[in-house]
Amino acid sequence: MENKVICHCMNVSYADIEKALHEHQVFSDVEKEFEEIQKATQCSTGCGGCYDDVLNVISEIMSK
Ligand code: FES
Repeated sequence: MENKVICHCMNVSYADIEKALHEHQVFSDVEKEFEEIQKATQCSTGCGGCYDDVLNVISEIMSK
């Protein structure tokens, strides 16, 4: 689960997103957080099909 690939275009895994989240200030806003994660990992910059999945992962990690 932790190594599940969330964004196939950019090969970004759940663990990559989690790591990126913990490397910078965490905002309470999921959309804002998404932008930061996208900058850090390039996730969701290809086909964009993983957008919802990335958002879900971010909210899941943030609510831990
Ligand atoms: S799967 Fe993430 S941009 Fe295509």
